[in-house]
Amino acid sequence: MPRKKIAMIGAGQIGGNLAYMAAAKELGDVILFDIPAAEGLAKGKALDIAQLLPVAGAEARLAGTSSYDDVAGADVCIVTAGIPRKPGMSREDLLDTNVRIITDVATNLRRTCPGAFCIVISNPLDAMVYAFKQVTGFPKSRVVGMAGVLDSARFRAFVAMELDVSVEDVQAFVLGGHGDDMVPLVRCCSVGGIPVSELLPKERIDAIVDRTRKAGGELVALYKTGSAYYAPAAAAIAMAEAYLKDQKRVLPCAAFLEGEYGIKGTYFGVPVVIGAGGVERVLEIRLTEEERALVAKSAASVRRTVAETKL
Ligand code: APR
Repeated sequence: MPRKKIAMIGAGQIGGNLAYMAAAKELGDVILFDIPAAEGLAKGKALDIAQLLPVAGAEARLAGTSSYDDVAGADVCIVTAGIPRKPGMSREDLLDTNVRIITDVATNLRRTCPGAFCIVISNPLDAMVYAFKQVTGFPKSRVVGMAGVLDSARFRAFVAMELDVSVEDVQAFVLGGHGDDMVPLVRCCSVGGIPVSELLPKERIDAIVDRTRKAGGELVALYKTGSAYYAPAAAAIAMAEAYLKDQKRVLPCAAFLEGEYGIKGTYFGVPVVIGAGGVERVLEIRLTEEERALVAKSAASVRRTVAETKL
C-alpha cells in the first residue's frame, strides 16, 4: 500500500509541530506548504525534521514547498494558514485577514486535493472552517475544525494538575464554539470513572472551567508574539490519525450541524466519530436546561462571527 500524503498548509509554529508529530508517528509522508515569502521556512523545517527521524527511529519523507503542485493529491490537509493572536487580541480580531487567507487556501485545495480529509485550525475557528467548506464545496464529512480536542485536553490537564493525578485518568469534553464562551461539560468530567464533582468543591471546578475557557489567551499573554502551538498540533494529529487508521474515535470537533443540538447550517463543537469516512456521525446527548442555555449563548457568538465573515 502506498504511503499516505499529509499536507500542512502553513509552515509556522503549529505547522512545524504538525509535521514533526505526523512524521514521528509515521502517519505518512509530509508536505509543508507556505507562501513564497516563507518558502525557506517550509523547506528548512522539512529538512530539520528529516534529520531528526534517524535519531527518533521513524520513517517518513518530508518536503517544503510554496507550490500547490507539490501538495496535489494529499490524503489529509491540515490548515494553519493565517495570522495568530497577539496580546490584547480576541480570535475575532483575526477575522478579516484570515478569511482572505482561508479563501486563497480553499480555492487551491479544491483544485489540487479534491479527495482530501481537511482539518482547519486557523482562527476564528468556527468561521474559518465554515468559510473553507463554502469555498471548497467539499462534503461536511471531509471538512472539520480542530478546537474541541484542544479545549478538552486543556480541561483535562487542569483537573489533573489540581488533583495531582495522571492526565490519562481524566476524561472530559468541551462543547461549543472555540471562544471564551465555550461550554466545558462538568457533568461529563470524570477521574478514573469518578465524577469530578465527588473529588473537587464547586468553586475549584468553577475556577478550572474559567481557566479552560481562557486558556488560549493565557498562552498569548505568556508568549507575547503568537498563540499556542504544541497542544493545537497534537489535537489535530489525533484527528488525522483517527481518519487515517479508521479508529472510530469519539472526539469533540467543530462539525457542520444540520439540526443536531438544535443548530442548523453552521459549524459548532460537538462530539463526533472520526473514522475512514471522515466525520462519520455526530453524537447527540441530552443537555440540562443550564447547559442548553450556555450552548445557545456560544452558538449565538459563532453565528455573529460567521455573519461578519465576508467571502
Ligand atoms: N497560504 C499558506 N500559508 C499562509 C498564507 C497563505 N495564503 N498566508 C499566511 N500563511 C502562513 C504564514 O506565512 C505563516 O508561516 O501561515 C503561517 C502561520 O504560522 P504562524 O504565524 O506561526 O501561526 P500559528 O501559531 O501556526 O497559528 C496559525 O492557527 O491557532 C490558529 O490563531 C492561530 O490563526 C492562527 C493559526
